[in-house]
Amino acid sequence: MKALEGVRILDMTHVQSGPTCTQLLAWFGADVIKVERPGTGDPTRAQLRDIPDVDSLYFTMLNHNKRSITLNTKHENGKAIFTRLIEVCDVLAENFAPGALDRMGFSWERIQEINPRIIYASVKGFGPGPYEDLKVYENVAQCTGGGASTTGFPEGPPVVAGAQIGDSGTGVNLALGIVTALFQRETTGRGQRVVCAMQDTVLNLCRVKLRDQQRLAHGPLTEYPQYPDGTFGEATPRAGNASGGGQPGWIVKCKGWETDPDAYIYVIAQAAAFEGLAKVIGHADWLEDPEWNTPAARLDKIERMFDEIEKWTLTKAKFEVMKILNPLNIPCGPVLSMKELAEEPSLRATGTVVEVDHPTRGKYLSVGNPIKLSDSPADVRRSPLLGEHTDEVLRGVLGMDDQAIAAAKADGAV
Ligand SMILES: CC(C)(COP(=O)(O)OP(=O)(O)OC[C@H]1O[C@@H](n2cnc3c(N)ncnc32)[C@H](O)[C@@H]1OP(=O)(O)O)[C@@H](O)C(=O)NCCC(=O)NCCS
Repeated sequence: MKALEGVRILDMTHVQSGPTCTQLLAWFGADVIKVERPGTGDPTRAQLRDIPDVDSLYFTMLNHNKRSITLNTKHENGKAIFTRLIEVCDVLAENFAPGALDRMGFSWERIQEINPRIIYASVKGFGPGPYEDLKVYENVAQCTGGGASTTGFPEGPPVVAGAQIGDSGTGVNLALGIVTALFQRETTGRGQRVVCAMQDTVLNLCRVKLRDQQRLAHGPLTEYPQYPDGTFGEATPRAGNASGGGQPGWIVKCKGWETDPDAYIYVIAQAAAFEGLAKVIGHADWLEDPEWNTPAARLDKIERMFDEIEKWTLTKAKFEVMKILNPLNIPCGPVLSMKELAEEPSLRATGTVVEVDHPTRGKYLSVGNPIKLSDSPADVRRSPLLGEHTDEVLRGVLGMDDQAIAAAKADGAV
């Protein structure tokens, strides 16, 4: 049995943020019925296609374990079918532009009228305020949530992260909002509205930068590369690869960096492991030197310290560095490329990376469920073809007969 078996989700999500959420819930066993516009479906089916006329990896990697029905929710009969689906579902999830569902005639008030037990969950770009009506994509959220202004090197422009913290991050928050609301419904018997804004998610994930904004009022941020020679302005600056915690850290080059763009390793010069680090890089002298042998004394020499560490790491491959530092309890992490991650056997063994077979695409790799439950195994099943389950859902979930289904098809509702 899976944890969310028996939970039925009416999934109006598209692109990345919403589908991330409903895919997680599907992996936990919810019956996720993805409602797509007849003809085109989720726009990502056709975006960044690598094989002509085949659902893109963008789509297939976000819509595992779901069923797909096509339904025109602006069509009169389509609305009637949609209303019946709301009646029999536990959750309605969507991430349309603000107001889209209201424009279809389905306000929160109307949805509650149809099914007072339903949880209506949305991703929006912004919460209530000056930007609430805007359409938002990943990088807009990273820029407006504090991610970009605090990412990159001090002398360079703002940079967005490769990790999709705005989209997938918000999807994860929405999933938690949904299961929490389902839990509360056990007591109250009522559904509720769940809204997650992408700006809020990015800012929430940037909390250490908001922490630093307040620390700035009390002096320079001593772990930032701007210290001691650079200047600090009024806002949290970009800190390059400095660690967000209290320990100095940096990315240093390893052997082969001239030709391999990922021949780097992150090293944390943690106070507790400093002795081992100093010795292994050939700087036992630091341990006797009052200029070096306390964390406070080293603070204004962090750049020089990592230059010296790098002289040593440059003589070794990144995995070799890791092998030497790990037994010394020196926290470090090689910069792994997507190729290395895709080929890593342990990630395949845990299901974090999975190979999936698809009828028109063939085999492809995807990320599996990163949340491991001992009593609810997550098997990753391929994404549905557009409208693959239309008949099955209309018949099995709504009890429509062949004649009614044929009529709905004939008038363009499905
Ligand atoms: C992502 C986003 C920018 C895309 O914008 P978009 O491509 O213009 O898509 P919209 O959400 O506006 O939806 C397009 C239209 O399709 C309609 N539509 C979607 N599914 C439909 C269906 N099954 N039947 C009929 N109409 C449908 C919508 O009602 C909307 O119509 P409207 O403009 O008349 O209201 C926007 O949806 C958004 O800001 N979402 C919230 C934030 C978010 O999740 N962003 C991250 C995406 S990864």
